[in-house]
Amino acid sequence: MSVHKEIKRVTTHVLAEMKLRGEKISMLTAYDYSTAKIVDEAGLPLILVGDSLGMVVLGYETPIPVTIDVMIHHTKAVVRGTNHALIVGDMPFMTYHVSTEEALRNAARLIQEAGCQSVKLEGGVTVAEKVRRMIECGIPVMGHLGLTPQSVNQLGGWRVQGKTPEAASQLLKDALALEEAGAFAVVLEQVPTPLADLISKKLTIPTIGIGAGNGCDGQVLVINDIFGLSDRVPKLAKQYASVGDSMRRAVTEYFNEVKSGAFPTDKNSFTMDEGLLAELKK
Ligand code: KIV
Repeated sequence: MSVHKEIKRVTTHVLAEMKLRGEKISMLTAYDYSTAKIVDEAGLPLILVGDSLGMVVLGYETPIPVTIDVMIHHTKAVVRGTNHALIVGDMPFMTYHVSTEEALRNAARLIQEAGCQSVKLEGGVTVAEKVRRMIECGIPVMGHLGLTPQSVNQLGGWRVQGKTPEAASQLLKDALALEEAGAFAVVLEQVPTPLADLISKKLTIPTIGIGAGNGCDGQVLVINDIFGLSDRVPKLAKQYASVGDSMRRAVTEYFNEVKSGAFPTDKNSFTMDEGLLAELKK
């Protein structure tokens, strides 16, 4: 009998083969057990526990306040709700910048404590060496270029990136540096479509676009946006359902039924032994 258990989840090799076959890769974010279960059961190959949870789950303006402990907490829940998708845990702001040693320790915490199978971090040439070291340690890494939300204060807002010749050429260099360092995929966020197309053609690893057009090898969206649960759906996203409206209707109906006494009914309640009740009443 083999000591090796069969790997049932999607692997980075499957994603590489998908790119080779020209099969589009879909990724969505998830931050909790029940939502992750829905995404996993739908068959998506990739789930990102994004630090966007700082904004859509915790109500901050940026992902910057999110800590490694918060990421571990949410990633654990997503891992528990899934058995098919490859789970990507986002490395939060300043958890991989100070030193390679600290970056390795934090990436290891996501893999070992939270149980995800890979990590994502922002940046290109400047983080390539850390990416290389993580991969040497057996940690698959997804890159993230273009609009990198952890640098929003430096970028001066949520703007499309790579529009000048210098910025476009740097983006291409960054993507090639990530591939060279061994990253298994790269997210391209808010990048002009022709530039994202060019990068997708130059790289052998899959590009996953968000606001980067249809030429990327895959797409990612924040799940709250597709559900209609966000304060505002950004131009780069598409709302596929009105879950927020259904939730509002359900909450209002519950509120009214509790007020009027229509809820709960006998169907939602429990009986007890009549004799015992009579005894208690004495
Ligand atoms: O944190 C996140 O959800 C992300 C995606 C938008 C790619 O980084």
